[in-house]
Amino acid sequence: MSDTRPRRSVLYAPGDKARALEKMRQLDVDAVIIDLEDSVAPEMKALARERACAAVAAGGFGFREVAIRLNARSTAHFADDLAAVGAAGPDVIVLSKVETPEDVIDAERRLDANGAGTGLRLWAMIETPLGLLNLRDIAERSRAGSRLRLAGIVLGTNDIAKDTGVQPGEDRAPLVPWLLQAVLVARAYGLLVFDGVYNAFSDLPGFERECAQGRQLGFDGKTLIHPSQIEAANRVFAPDADAVRQAQAIIAAFAQPENRDKGAINLEGQMVERLHAETAARLIETEAAIRQRTADAAGSPPTDGPGR
Ligand code: COA
Ligand code: MG
Repeated sequence: MSDTRPRRSVLYAPGDKARALEKMRQLDVDAVIIDLEDSVAPEMKALARERACAAVAAGGFGFREVAIRLNARSTAHFADDLAAVGAAGPDVIVLSKVETPEDVIDAERRLDANGAGTGLRLWAMIETPLGLLNLRDIAERSRAGSRLRLAGIVLGTNDIAKDTGVQPGEDRAPLVPWLLQAVLVARAYGLLVFDGVYNAFSDLPGFERECAQGRQLGFDGKTLIHPSQIEAANRVFAPDADAVRQAQAIIAAFAQPENRDKGAINLEGQMVERLHAETAARLIETEAAIRQRTADAAGSPPTDGPGR
């Protein structure tokens, strides 16, 4: 994928919480999702929609990718959500409880009818048994029919546990087959894929362990619920210094004149093939994008400036 923008940390905040929406603009986070769905009480839906759209339209999010999460297509709020959000101009719209290709295709159609910009992308929440079962079909058919708006999959692990009866436990072992299936589908169809949230936001060691697991399973990043989770997600989902050094060594080895026409070489007792050089080049690109993004963050106003 040529889009190397970092998406290690993706922070949700409820659309009706003005303080959180303000705060997101200062946090060292790669992407934000302003939520209109489960974190907003029924009587606050209209206010949340209004605040979310006003916040996005006002801008000031800088390097952060900005998404709004809509209520599910099966709810009474969906039509109003869709009618309002396109004009606010988010980078991404997150569709809740996607279960069929039609859920994505229908959102596409309505967004087009509302004159949404061509750059607007969709991420589909996969968080129900049917969504998990139909995921491949959703990725395949909605991409074919959708002028490529579908760009990502977000796992809703709380809803998956609730609707399946699975008890994830500490290591999420019972969820792993579904998490891996989502990563597999995402890679097969060129989509981004984000791990679910960790509810115990005061348990940072536990959160970091779950980030490491998500990284190992192949996710692009982790969805977050609290600012305290950002640092670990940014660190764990970035290539570490050893990996960068190793990648540089692989690229340098294949650049040697004696290796120019070789497919496989011996690098300090390890077989290294050209496919490893491709992975290494991607890792270097990712690392450079993160460094650029970190420099951008340093240029943004500090979280707690004087006068606060
Ligand atoms: N985004 C931005 N800022 C946030 C935030 C978030 N998700 N969660 C908390 N903050 C801010 C608070 O506004 C507060 O700022 P301040 O002290 O500068 O005023 C600071 O971080 C500390 O918040 P804290 O008191 O620790 O949190 P809380 O007890 O008020 O709220 C939650 C805890 C979990 C309810 C809250 O973090 C939250 O609503 N998270 C997002 C939930 C969500 O969107 N779920 C949907 C997807 S599963
Ligand atoms: Mg959900």
